[in-house]
Order: sequence, then structure tokens, then C-alpha cells
Amino acid sequence: MEIFVTASALKQHLATLQQQHKKIGFVPTMGALHDGHISLIQAAKAATDVVVCSIFVNPTQFNDPKDLEKYPRPIEHDKALLTAANCDILFLPEVNVMYPENDPHWEIDLGNLDQIWEGEHRPGHFQGVTQIVYKLFQLVNPDIAFFGQKDFQQVMVIQRMIAEKALSVKLHIVPTLRDAHGLALSSRNARLSPTGIEKAYAISKALRHIQHYSREKDVNTLIAEATALLHDVDGLELEYLAICETTTLEISTNIDPNKDYVVLVAAWLEGVRLIDNMLL
Ligand code: PAF
Repeated sequence: MEIFVTASALKQHLATLQQQHKKIGFVPTMGALHDGHISLIQAAKAATDVVVCSIFVNPTQFNDPKDLEKYPRPIEHDKALLTAANCDILFLPEVNVMYPENDPHWEIDLGNLDQIWEGEHRPGHFQGVTQIVYKLFQLVNPDIAFFGQKDFQQVMVIQRMIAEKALSVKLHIVPTLRDAHGLALSSRNARLSPTGIEKAYAISKALRHIQHYSREKDVNTLIAEATALLHDVDGLELEYLAICETTTLEISTNIDPNKDYVVLVAAWLEGVRLIDNMLL
């Protein structure tokens, strides 16, 4: 695996590959890699000729400085995982590479997506995500970019940015990887104690409850029952749990068999904010 730390060296190397008509796959990450990220690398390997992974803990998407500070950065372990997964290129920039002095102010119209769910609870988060993903797309110029379904709203936001900026990159969404108990793999799980991990199983259990009974029970009952499952867990604080239309993420009060829905959840455990979702 070749490692680049400057934008110019990466661009130059990729330009040569692009001249050879190689299809470039891109997996942007913030590191602390787990099998979920590796499934993105594998999907990229299967669909493209050259796989570029970036590891950059992007400061502009953290609305809480403590969260940024505590974000895990096990870089040697990450490199070993990427090498084992046959990733071709790792881009590992410092903050000043991605945010040079006099970097222009970034603002993009994300419509309602900026105001609801993650947008509401993490002000500025999606502006920061789109800012860095746009910069990375400009550098890597990928044919296909790979994102996890785990960050469902993020995927919608990136889709919107691609449309707004008229970019040619295609998105490939990879299903969420879960452990044997259904817990969605996430870099944040590393900050939970073993007891916290066990408690976190309730999150996917609540989602599965809604998925299982979605044709039998009404929305209010489904939400009340799933909320009760989460309230039973000592120390778990639910931020939101909602059934939404997949196209708008607007909350739904009834389930129309002709539409597609996703259940979105965010909860705090041991000072760690966890999100998950499940398609109905
Ligand atoms: O999903 C993430 O890890 C980050 O939001 C991303 C897309 C790498 C941008 O920093």
C-alpha cells in the first residue's frame, strides 16, 4: 500500500493512473477502522481497479470539541488492517493539508437535511462533512465513492452535495455490518466498557422490534414499545427514535405499503453517542 501525506503527491500519482484509464474507488474514513470499513474496501476492490482510502479526523464536522479530542486514532492498527485488505493507496493528510490558511468559507444548501435528526442534534455537522468530502472528491476524483448505510442521513447529504455541485462521482452504499448481537460496528464502540457494549445491544433490538412488527402494529405502538425496550436499559439516554420516509427523512405517523421507510435512532451510553438505522 502506498501512503501519501500531501495533496500534490497524491494528485500526481492518481493523474498517472487516470491516464491509464484505471477506475478509481474511494473510501473516505476518519480511521479507527473496523470490519465495517473493511467491507467498504472490499466492495471498492470488487468494483474498481485502484482503491484509495483516506484517514482524516475532520475537525469541522465535530460540534463538540471533547468528542473530537476523544476520537480514537490507532493509526498503526489502521494501516495494518488496510494492508491486509489489499487497499492500494492510503491518504493520510495533516489538518493544514486539508484546511490551509485562507481556506474559503464553506456553505452548501442541504435543505431540510441540515435541520432534522443528526442535523438538529449536531449543528454544523453536515456542513463539515460535505466540506471535507467535497475537498477529498476534488483531490481523488474517484469514479465511485463507497459509504456505509450505518450513516444513513450522511449518505443522503452526500447525494445532495453531489447533485448541488454537479459532480460525476457515483455513490455505492454498503449495508451496515453488525456483531453477533446485532450491534452496528462503529469506531465509537471502542469507547464503551464491556458492560456498555452489552447495554448497546438494546439499540438494534429496538430497531429489529419495529422492523418485525411493522406490518402488524401502528406507528405509535411500535415507537412506544421500542422506546420502552430502550428505557429498560440503565444509563441509556434516547435522543431520538423515529420511523421516516427514506426519500425525505420526514417523520411518518402511518405506514403506507407503497412507500419505503427507515427507522432512525440516536442514543447516549457512557458519554458515547451512538446512531443506528434499519430499513423497514
Ligand atoms: O463517515 C465518516 O467517517 C466521515 O463523516 C467522513 C465521510 C469520512 C467525512 O469525514
